[in-house]
Amino acid sequence: VAIAEATHGAAADRYLSVRQLTERLTEPLTPEDCVAQSLPEANPVKWHLGHTTWFFETFVLERVSARFRAFDPNFTALFAIQTAGEAAAPTVPRGVLTRPTLGEVLAYRRAVDDRITNLLARDQIDPESRALIELGLNHEQQHQERILMDLKHLFSLNPLNPVYRSGRLPDGITLALGWRSLGAGLHEFGAPQGRFAFDNEQPQCQIWLVPYSIATRLVTNGEYLEFIQAGGYERPELWPAAGWSVVHREHWQQPLHWRRVDNAWHEFTLRGLAELDLSAPVSHVSYFEADAYANWAGARLPSEFEWEYAARGSPIAGNLLDAGVLHPRPARPGETQFFGDVWEWTRSAYAPYAGYRPPPGAICEYDGKFMVNHFVLRGGSCATPGDHIRATYRLALPPSARWQCAGIRLARDNV
Ligand SMILES: [Fe+2]
Repeated sequence: VAIAEATHGAAADRYLSVRQLTERLTEPLTPEDCVAQSLPEANPVKWHLGHTTWFFETFVLERVSARFRAFDPNFTALFAIQTAGEAAAPTVPRGVLTRPTLGEVLAYRRAVDDRITNLLARDQIDPESRALIELGLNHEQQHQERILMDLKHLFSLNPLNPVYRSGRLPDGITLALGWRSLGAGLHEFGAPQGRFAFDNEQPQCQIWLVPYSIATRLVTNGEYLEFIQAGGYERPELWPAAGWSVVHREHWQQPLHWRRVDNAWHEFTLRGLAELDLSAPVSHVSYFEADAYANWAGARLPSEFEWEYAARGSPIAGNLLDAGVLHPRPARPGETQFFGDVWEWTRSAYAPYAGYRPPPGAICEYDGKFMVNHFVLRGGSCATPGDHIRATYRLALPPSARWQCAGIRLARDNV
């Protein structure tokens, strides 16, 4: 009995610690900060708070209780994921939804948290619901990162340069760029059964790698600046055709958050506007920019399998959300930067592994639905919770996306 109670207590503790972290991330914000939406692909903080809650209410509470009553039946139209809410999806942008108020959404969170922790504490829960709670917690952690990145974009548009977290960014020096050579072979990729993983990491698959080399650290701002100064944004031969048209349409001339102020390069960060640190990893670049940079540098991006094979020996440690820096920092001696700092673009189009089957029902928000026109990123960023990332983890974004904290690691063929 004591062991069972401890297990249930641990499950409730884990649930609450993830849910409470989300709210702690929003503590520095005003209610106004939580309502606005600055990009179609970004969402207001209030929506993230409601949407993650709706997940638990719909996929767990509605499932386990015959007498289920929604906190507010109208919330599905506001907070549902695309598939489940399609019929009732609002036709207005989420950033104009001043109602429900932030207070009402927080009350919604508390009501759902009470019911879920009661379930967990009393062990009135079947294994499938328990698995759905774990999925909901991992889903919530994805939204924790999104809260920070969506907010960063919103703040970046404000001439007052709002500061989310005060304090200096860590500095460092630029380490020499090294290369690690890896041999040919048939290797197994993807997540094994038995531990939590998203379905897009499964089933495990075997891929043949040819000899390649991978950079020992990320590309720095200083290196990317050389690309700009060499006319990188004006040379069509460096860009994929689709990227070249976006460069022109969007007038891209530098990474998303770089700015010239008083004739010096600056970067907008969650700690406000800072002088550009040339030793820190370049961030907020698209796949197109990563690819063009790699071409200019006489290299290429790694495939997602080359990345996974190279990263699997590295500890899951580094500049992740838990470090509290919230910005990529210069590599330290011996640090590979595979985990944390920036998501790393790979050259791999986001596709299912052999034998993949999407999960039934509405719980496919991140999987089969996005396996067109997206590229895979690996490794997590300075906004990714440390217990959320792993070597097999696949993030997928459209090649023009820049608002996520994404950067560049180079690879090349051994010929
Ligand atoms: Fe979601």
